[in-house]
Amino acid sequence: MSKANPFTPHSPVHTGMFVGRYFEIEALDKSLIQAKNSNPTHLLILGERGIGKTSLLNLAQMFACGEFPWKDEKHNFLTVRISLDENICIADLALNLRRAIEREISKENPEIAWLKKSWEFLSRFEAAGVAYRKEESANNSSQLIQEFIYSLIDTIKSLKDPTFVGQKKDGLVILIDEADKASKNLNLGTFLKNLSEALISENQNNILFILSGLPNVRNVLIESHESSLRLFQELNLKPLSQEDTVNVIQRGLDKSEKESGIKILVDEQAKKLFFLYSEGYPHFVQQIGFSAFEVNDDQLINETDVDTGFFGKHGALEQIGQRYYVRSFYTDIATDLQREILTIMSEKWNNWVSREQIKKKFTGKEYSLNNGIRALIDKGIIIPRDGVKGQYRLQWASFAFWIGNHNREKHRS
Ligand SMILES: Nc1ncnc2c1ncn2[C@@H]1O[C@H](COP(=O)(O)OP(=O)(O)OP(=O)(O)O)[C@@H](O)[C@H]1O
Ligand SMILES: [Mg+2]
Repeated sequence: MSKANPFTPHSPVHTGMFVGRYFEIEALDKSLIQAKNSNPTHLLILGERGIGKTSLLNLAQMFACGEFPWKDEKHNFLTVRISLDENICIADLALNLRRAIEREISKENPEIAWLKKSWEFLSRFEAAGVAYRKEESANNSSQLIQEFIYSLIDTIKSLKDPTFVGQKKDGLVILIDEADKASKNLNLGTFLKNLSEALISENQNNILFILSGLPNVRNVLIESHESSLRLFQELNLKPLSQEDTVNVIQRGLDKSEKESGIKILVDEQAKKLFFLYSEGYPHFVQQIGFSAFEVNDDQLINETDVDTGFFGKHGALEQIGQRYYVRSFYTDIATDLQREILTIMSEKWNNWVSREQIKKKFTGKEYSLNNGIRALIDKGIIIPRDGVKGQYRLQWASFAFWIGNHNREKHRS
């Protein structure tokens, strides 16, 4: 039976396959209403790798531009998305943003001469090379930021005026994914702080920023401007609940049924395993769903399918391991003795293990054990038990599985 696999471990989801995040969606909706009413609270979507930041940003984009309604409200913001990397300077950011705005506006109204006029200060950068943009951004940063801000203010004024855009907009939503990649030179925090103050004083406060990134994006902003973080409400993404995890699997199977006409069911035991192995981490749910779907050859996904999909050759555990754990096990961990501590702990999966239990099997000296435990805690690989001295567990259960499997494979080869 050959059917297209509906699970997406390699790409963020869009609306149809999106599950959960009700609190965040509610916050998003409120922020959009606030932005329309000239009092925006910008959003900062934070979370570890693969937790679903980009997927939530995709959803935010659809809500903001009105492609997807939430409750009865259909928003109507001009919505643009830009990405950052370490090399982007303030002139690049302005150029990218203008291009993105131009692209969105011209979808509805090809007449955009007014826009070019608002962003006239960029003309000197257009023909110039990277070196000039970088040099100007470094040497004339505050002047550039000021011109950039004026352009945005002019743009927002025009967006709210139907003579320019055909249909009046609620404002402008700017989505920036992977904001943790912003370089020091970009000075993102200062730019946002200055912009926000200028928008208030010009009475044009209808721009909403939605940033996402790894938790250290907070430092990126603070280092650039101490109080820039106060502009944001933080949305810390956590793993999905058991119910939402099962929903992800169900969504995938519904999609597959729509495309192939073949209905596949999941039994209760398999549902439990999906959650047990993934612990609700969205990336893992998609990967385990993908692998179990590959293994299954009838119309019922059962415990054996999930098990084989997870532990089998080229299965989910191997894929997840290559993406996440190889680095934690080899690059982030300094010594073989620390790896030994993890191996001993992994025998208990991610249950609490006492220092004494580790000590019984540990081949190194006592001080190596103490130092090792401390280093692993500092790196966030193991977690100390609150209120109980000398007990620890691995951060992720699937890491424990992976270590066990990996060591066995190494033995064999
Ligand atoms: N709400 C969700 N519902 C279903 N699947 C999801 C959801 N959020 C994320 N996923 C899945 O989890 C995986 C990771 O999602 P995404 O790329 O959005 O995470 P991320 O936090 O942006 O990751 P990275 O830090 O690597 O950029 C993808 O395979 C995606 O399909
Ligand atoms: Mg992402």
